[in-house]
Parts: sequence; structure tokens; C-alpha cells
Amino acid sequence: MTVYLNGKFLPIEEAYVPVLDRGFIFGDGVYEVIPVYSQRAFRLKEHLKRLQSSLDGIRLPNPHTVDEWSALVEELIARHADEDQYLYLHITRGVAKRDHAFPQPPVQPTVFMMSSPLLQPAAELLNTGVSAVTALDNRWLRCDIKAISLLPNVLLRQQAVDAGCAESILIREDSDTSESFMTEGAASNIFLVKNGTLFAPPKNNLMLPGITYDVVLEIAEANHIPCQVRKITKAEVFDADELLLTSSTKEVMPITRLNGKPVGNGKPGAMFARMHNLYQEFKREVMRQP
Ligand code: PDD
Repeated sequence: MTVYLNGKFLPIEEAYVPVLDRGFIFGDGVYEVIPVYSQRAFRLKEHLKRLQSSLDGIRLPNPHTVDEWSALVEELIARHADEDQYLYLHITRGVAKRDHAFPQPPVQPTVFMMSSPLLQPAAELLNTGVSAVTALDNRWLRCDIKAISLLPNVLLRQQAVDAGCAESILIREDSDTSESFMTEGAASNIFLVKNGTLFAPPKNNLMLPGITYDVVLEIAEANHIPCQVRKITKAEVFDADELLLTSSTKEVMPITRLNGKPVGNGKPGAMFARMHNLYQEFKREVMRQP
């Protein structure tokens, strides 16, 4: 497998990063995951925009222009035969003597990219849906930054796996108002359906602004699907007719069991079926554009 590291494409076996890399020492960096369909990056402009905002969030100058990133992404895709791939982009604050404060003068950031085959979610999972658990969202207050320091997400996702589930739905407790509300999944965004309306939590510092989340909202608007973006309480999550999970690698998936109990009637619902079809159509349309 060919990866990209600091200006070179090389076999993954030859790609090494020094142990004093601040990504290794502090988790001091950001990343992106970009789906590729038919050898074309999906929503590249939007992913690069979010990358810029993550870099701004950690005060790390972008090592590349949008045109440079686009050329690198194109070359990485072309070096892999798979029609559908997902790209991982990773930028750290570089290699420096261990000190929490930024290196002075700044050092070269480390830039790493790799591609993996993107597999469509198994048809069986789309037919039955996946299970989830709720978990206390104990992450920091800048979840809008796609930071490589993912330890809280790792532990939260493992809670789901330990319970034989696919995802943890995160519930944030506001100590001022003692309100409990849903933020997102450990590695996904979450939508709720009640009485035919699609509900999404508003983008803020407590969740990652998902690119798939935006696509789902765009599709809902274009197809006149009733939709509301507003805070979703924990009680509403348990009372949902449907729950949907979205991410670049999973697209749109139905969650049909929560904490061991059925969501709605326990089967993927009408909103999922509609959104899934519209999403596939949307992908094909975007890919046909020049
Ligand atoms: N994760 N929220 C979190 C915490 C995520 O990690 C992700 C995606 C999303 C969905 O964002 P998007 O639709 O842009 O993929 C939301 C990626 C896939 C990952 O870390 O592998």
C-alpha cells in the first residue's frame, strides 16, 4: 500500500515518524476522513474547509493550499485501484523537544495520508439496523475540532463494542441547567425521527460538524422532508420512532435497538428507507458532474 508522508509517496512499510513527533507525544494534530466514490473524492471542498477550521482551532498554519491538497488527494486516489476508497489525512505540529507549549520557532508539520478500500455497509445491516447504547459525553468543549487526540471517543466507542453494539450515542449533561441532551455518536452524527419529522442537533462546539450530516440536511430540504435543527433531549432519544447514524464511512445507517430495547417498532423505518435511497441518488449525481 502506498501512503504519503511529508512530500513523498512511499510503501507503508517505509513510512516512519520520529518518536518526538507531537502527534505521538501529545496527540497534537488534526485529521480528516474523505470518502471516494468511483475514484473521485466526495465533497472534497467541504472536507478541506473543515480541515482548515480544525487547523485554525489548534493554531497550526495549513501546510498546503486547497489546490495543493486537491492535487495530493488526486494522486493518492490514482495510486490505488479501488473505485471506492476512504482517505485519511493527518497533520501534526511536527517533531520537537517535548514541551507542551508550541515549538519556538515553529517546526515543519508532519503530513500523512493513506487510502483504504471503502466498503458499502452490508445489506443485512441496512435491513436489520444496528444496536447502540447511550453513554455520558465526557469529552472536552471543542468537539468541533477533528483532533487526533481521540482517547475519549475511543473509550466511548469501546463501551458500545463491549455491549455488543455498533455505536454509543453521547448524552451531554449541562451542570447549569441540569438538562441532558444528545450531542452525536462516538464516531458519527445522530439524527432522530418523530412523527415523520427529522430532528438534528444544532452544530456547535460540542459536536463535530459532519459532512454527511450536512448532506442529509440538504437532501431533506431539497425533498421537502419535514426537518428541525434543535437541541434533542435524552428523553426524546428514548422516545424516538427512528434513530439514524451518519458518517463518511457508514453513510446513513438505521439504529434499531438502544440500550437493549427496540427503537420505535425495532425495524428500519420509512425515513431511513427514503434517506438511504436519496443519499445513493445524491452520490451518483455528484459523481456524474464534471
Ligand atoms: N468520523 N462525529 C464524530 C465524533 C466523528 O468521528 C465523525 C466521523 C462524525 C461524522 O462526520 P463525517 O460525516 O464528516 O464523516 C461525527 C470519521 C469517519 C472517523 O473518525 O473515522
